Amino acid sequence: MCGIVGYIGNRNAQPILLQSLERLEYRGYDSCGIAVLSSTVKVYKDAGRVYQLGKALPKNNSKLGIGHSRWATHGKPSKINAHPHTDCSGRIAVVHNGVIDNFQQIKDKLTEEGHLFCSETDTEVIPHLIESYYQGDLEQAVQRALGDLRGSYALIVLAADHEELLVARNESPLVLGVGDGENFVASDVPALLDYTDRVIYMEDGDVGVITADEIRLVNCNQKVNRETNVIPWTIDDAEKGGYDHFMLKEIHEQPRVIRDTVAGYLSEIEPVIDLGLERTQFEDILLLACGTSYHACLVGRYLLEKLARIPVRVEIASEFSYSDAVLGETWVIGITQSGETADLLGALKKAKQLGCRTLAITNCFGSSATRIADQTFYIRAQPEISVAATKSFVAQLMAMYLIALSEAKMDIKSREDLTRELSVLPDKVQRILDDEEQIARHGKYLSTYDNAFYIARGINFPMALEGALKLKEISYIHAEGYPAGELKHGPFALLTPNTPVIAIVAKDDTYEAMLTNIKEIKARESPVIAVADEADEDIDKFVDEVIRVPSVDSIFSPVVNSVVLQLLPYYAARERGCSIDMPRNLAKSVTVK
Ligand code: M6R
Repeated sequence: MCGIVGYIGNRNAQPILLQSLERLEYRGYDSCGIAVLSSTVKVYKDAGRVYQLGKALPKNNSKLGIGHSRWATHGKPSKINAHPHTDCSGRIAVVHNGVIDNFQQIKDKLTEEGHLFCSETDTEVIPHLIESYYQGDLEQAVQRALGDLRGSYALIVLAADHEELLVARNESPLVLGVGDGENFVASDVPALLDYTDRVIYMEDGDVGVITADEIRLVNCNQKVNRETNVIPWTIDDAEKGGYDHFMLKEIHEQPRVIRDTVAGYLSEIEPVIDLGLERTQFEDILLLACGTSYHACLVGRYLLEKLARIPVRVEIASEFSYSDAVLGETWVIGITQSGETADLLGALKKAKQLGCRTLAITNCFGSSATRIADQTFYIRAQPEISVAATKSFVAQLMAMYLIALSEAKMDIKSREDLTRELSVLPDKVQRILDDEEQIARHGKYLSTYDNAFYIARGINFPMALEGALKLKEISYIHAEGYPAGELKHGPFALLTPNTPVIAIVAKDDTYEAMLTNIKEIKARESPVIAVADEADEDIDKFVDEVIRVPSVDSIFSPVVNSVVLQLLPYYAARERGCSIDMPRNLAKSVTVK
């Protein structure tokens, strides 16, 4: 969740740390800090954003340092709880991402030994623990301290009189950037791309000593050599490119994302999909994910059951830990944009322990999910910076279409027709984006309400959940997504003229039932906005407003509808003056359970 960075080389460390931290603020942004080494360890930190900290810093010419931007887990956002944390002497500074499960026991023991703590964080025990073991060899002291820690961590240690950074990883991501006469450390690749495109992904259990000229990694006391990867995208790919927000830019990238994701797996000559996956026998599929990725799984279930006639179960990853389900010849597919969501990683590990074959569908090359799962399917969304998942969601949907179509049990012509339609989706999405103004108007209208419902049936029911999640997440308007038939079983009590209902109306076998539900809602005087097929000539008679989407085969309707359901909350949030790319209390990559 938090972002951590480190630098060692012959340049001034402070501006590099600040710039890298700004690139990582999507991971957490409630407080931040840096520590640099000159003659002593100097720590500067505060509640608030990196640019604010940067303005307040004295000039400094240190050549090594560490930095942190925080997403609070233990203790409120404040200067005292911000990282880096130090030991009693102020000679050892640590930045940490993750959660130390046994920090209270360690803290109690160290307190008895005379250590004084000032923050509420779990992290503060780490520098004190290192201090308690330090007898002149920093690496040895760090190794002994790590031996006492239970939980997840990516951490960087800086200490007085040591021209090196110590790094360690366990269940939280950490990447090393390889430079010439300088080296970098970060939670994620965007923090490094201003300086280098050569990166090494650390593995769980790796501990490293980083100097300006050398990266030395050990795992279980054995020296290890990890591969150096060259990142194929630039920092420009992760910049706003003239849009006011990353979210808007990322929504507008979706035609390209659909094209790229499909192109990776679809033959240019004939409508044939090749996923390049090693095919094994399976009887059923279990889909696992969290948040928006979970909604992609729900769409996936409809597709796989309809097209491929495969029994599919979908579980929220965090709940899978409590499941006693017996998995036989089950193919387990975990979907995660970041590849670092702790709940999903835990679920994938459990599935492997149960003997299932696993596939990770992710956007992030080299992420933890790719290392846990037997196989990986890369969606090609490129870096997604806004906390709200948009283009990665549409790419996840495309992954689901590709898998379902490649497994389809239907006549060849129908399968080929549907496969061909994948290639026209980018243009359909572009048409919605070209007519963005109509959606902006409805978004502004929604911004005046405090509550809303989203309803749909069939394959679009997950889109009702996703639309509501997006509205809550970035505009802070309370919204619930429901199967349209369920509202009358309780939520009807909440319908008033002040409760707008967004009805997603596809021209499929759900149409008549949707109209019936809309009439019931109108009888309670709630305003209804329909998201409907442009060929639907009747819908205007039943609702207050209509947002038209291009006609597609109804199985693809979630793709076009999703664009509307992203733009509506975007414009509502904008009207309400919300922090769109970094909504309060959230983080892009949820690396804690
Ligand atoms: O990286 P993941 O796809 O595993 O993330 C899962 C959720 O945290 C994520 O989809 C979250 O719900 C989004 N911020 C919603 O927009």
